Amino acid sequence: MSIKIFRDSSELSQVAAKYFIEAAKHAIAERGRFLVALSGGSTPMKLYERLADETLDWRRVHFFWGDERCVPVEDSGNSYGQTKKVLFDKINAVNVHRVKSELQPDAAATDYTHILSKFAESPLDFPRFDLVLLGMGDDGHTASLFPGSPIDVTTPTLAVTAHYQKRPANRITLTPLVFNQAREVWLLVTGYGKAETLKKVIEGEFKPEVYPAQRIHPIDGNLVWMIDRAAGSLLNQ
Ligand code: 6PG
Repeated sequence: MSIKIFRDSSELSQVAAKYFIEAAKHAIAERGRFLVALSGGSTPMKLYERLADETLDWRRVHFFWGDERCVPVEDSGNSYGQTKKVLFDKINAVNVHRVKSELQPDAAATDYTHILSKFAESPLDFPRFDLVLLGMGDDGHTASLFPGSPIDVTTPTLAVTAHYQKRPANRITLTPLVFNQAREVWLLVTGYGKAETLKKVIEGEFKPEVYPAQRIHPIDGNLVWMIDRAAGSLLNQ
């Protein structure tokens, strides 16, 4: 696990975009394609905007989602719909594996498990992502793994109903089963509002049922916290 602290969210997004392109080029050279799971929420949006200006063989990049809110694509609460405007349309993305958020959560989760199985890397029945992007809520949730949710999940996806801020409650999420098989996981966290929780998650007692972000620890991969000074203001760094 490593922690990279940036001046602010702009510097974080700028540097993260460079790292993303490097990771993509490396995976494409090694395996012919780059499998990445994106995060919803506001924090990664600046990164997606910056990626739209980067040069890459985007046909070799397969975009998946770590979680999605079960609302129509046109809804401002739909992560795919928001990212389509700032990134996919700008790079003419051809391999976007979106969650069918118009379905009921259980059906959307089942459907997404099937989509993931098409990119399975033996012996797994789901992809070993080259990169997973995650955020963290001020309650310690990540993707749509919320405090109090089951921790010993044995399925790649889950249908979830959770109330966080005024965001859509019905969601589907990938699970730690998938995230912890990734080659690289980046947790992007910014703002003073998350400083207290971030300190507990990184330096506090291991309580994964209370702080789902603590459930993310790649088995054979890197975990990188990319944070700004405000979010890291309470860390003993
Ligand atoms: C989602 C995300 C969620 C998000 C956090 C942080 O789709 O809602 O996957 O886990 O990363 O809620 O959201 P912000 O970046 O907006 O603070």
